[in-house]
Amino acid sequence: MASSSSANWELVTIGRGSFASVHVLTGRPVAFKAVLDSSRTNELHREFAMLCELYQARDRDSIFSFTCPIAYHDSESPDGFTDSGGAQRFSVSIDDLQLLNFPTAVFAMDHVIPLPPSTAKSIRQFYPAGSDSAPDPSLCRLYFGKEIQVTGQSGRPHTFFNSSNFPLDSNRYRHITIPKDCYVTPEKIAFGMGQTISRIHWHMGYDARDIEFVLGGRGFSDVGLYVIDFNQMRHWSKDKADVPALVNAHYANDPYYPCARNTDTLYTQFKAGYMSACPETAYDAATAFLEAIETEQHKRDVKIKSIGVS
Ligand SMILES: Nc1ncnc2c1ncn2[C@@H]1O[C@H](COP(=O)(O)OP(=O)(O)OP(=O)(O)O)[C@@H](O)[C@H]1O
Ligand SMILES: [Mg+2]
Repeated sequence: MASSSSANWELVTIGRGSFASVHVLTGRPVAFKAVLDSSRTNELHREFAMLCELYQARDRDSIFSFTCPIAYHDSESPDGFTDSGGAQRFSVSIDDLQLLNFPTAVFAMDHVIPLPPSTAKSIRQFYPAGSDSAPDPSLCRLYFGKEIQVTGQSGRPHTFFNSSNFPLDSNRYRHITIPKDCYVTPEKIAFGMGQTISRIHWHMGYDARDIEFVLGGRGFSDVGLYVIDFNQMRHWSKDKADVPALVNAHYANDPYYPCARNTDTLYTQFKAGYMSACPETAYDAATAFLEAIETEQHKRDVKIKSIGVS
């Protein structure tokens, strides 16, 4: 997509979704999210505005960090440059953005750096033989709603191969190499996911649709937990009557969230995190949301069981 380069810098594509592609200048701490189809420029602008809001209202004690938004630029629009208002550690100027010559609107944010080499290498252990040509994972999605059977004498999960999104379920996560002092237990991660979406639901008034919880690098040999990708979030009323809209968004993103069964410790942690971040005035509606996702999970379990039995 973007193709600007010089002897001193090169724009590299590090990710691509259905809506945008993400690029970095090698060796620099900023990532650029560029919309793929310029008819969706407004959506990118809206994502930048929502990320600014989320970042401003973030819980600084949370184990999950939001990527800090830095600046938005649309070369087609006369007032197409906005910066995020000073909260950022780095600045990105309009002069630099113009030189990068993106063909569509773009916003700059913190770059979630790749996983440490030893962590990435340990994730390769899940790959079947013959996949040596696939790149090492740079970020992993934390798919704690998936259940992969632990198998064999090593107690390792089944092998998997998916070079596009590197999902890690909680079994796989427990088996990867992470420096001891930055290892966060799956239970704490589940708690943090609950806290994060509760904050987005009740403090910020968004439905958290399609956000991604990822494990990335920090510094060099450390790892960090991040939330990215906000373009599909929608405002919701924070009214108990609209809880079904939240349930719908939750199940659209369910690979991340522990299955809503009270017998599952990861889910009870998720639930505790969710309630811990919710304002007292919203307890009633927040409880209705949790009960509704539990009911939906139960329906799904019954359906799967009946298919298995017949
Ligand atoms: N700040 C970042 N630092 C590093 N990598 C990133 C960053 N933001 C996004 N990525 C990578 O780029 C990929 C695509 O970004 P993103 O998910 O935001 O695009 P999208 O088109 O909105 O996705 P979707 O189709 O899921 O809506 C991500 O899955 C991730 O691998
Ligand atoms: Mg997206």
